Amino acid sequence: MKKIEEYVRSIPDFPEPGIIFRDVTSILQDADGLHLAIDLLQDTLKDVDFDVVVGPESRGFIFGVPVAYNLHKAFVPVRKKGKLPCETVEMEYDLEYGSAVIEMHKDSIKPGQRVVIIDDLIATGGTIEAIIKLVESLGGEVVKISFVMELAGLKGRERLSGYDVSSVIRYE
Ligand code: PRP
Ligand code: ADE
Repeated sequence: MKKIEEYVRSIPDFPEPGIIFRDVTSILQDADGLHLAIDLLQDTLKDVDFDVVVGPESRGFIFGVPVAYNLHKAFVPVRKKGKLPCETVEMEYDLEYGSAVIEMHKDSIKPGQRVVIIDDLIATGGTIEAIIKLVESLGGEVVKISFVMELAGLKGRERLSGYDVSSVIRYE
């Protein structure tokens, strides 16, 4: 059986010069790769007591929903601005390339709920830092943050100090 690292295709200079793009589609398009990624993500949640998985559009949906389903938890999507139909809270943030505004429904997290955040990848940590602020503004408690991939050189983890962070694959 292949290791999870072996399923990831790396593309230099995408979407901009100087970026090495870690392509999650190469994991997903292989049945063993997909299984392994979900299983290894779930392993990071062993012994974590929580109520809800929160995942950002779009790659956070791919990994967050199967984990939530397998563990019989709720899933709350964080969407790019303008997609959610009811009252929202929003936050602007910067990424490795570009910036964005994300939103969550105001009623998506109940005060006191224990939240796990799942995404495919941490680069600068801007996305997750923004999500933490939104979750906490709604009264949720972030008890765990798990990624398939961590671009450690970008030091995103430093922005998440004080939180319990795990990644399955670490790139220096
Ligand atoms: C990518 C990735 C993470 C985020 C990581 O999402 O899926 O969510 O960037 O970058 P950061 O740690 O610097 O914030 P993107 O916003 O490109 O959207 P996508 O999943 O729809 O491609
Ligand atoms: N999102 C932000 N930076 C990325 C990278 N280097 N590869 C894949 N997705 C990313």
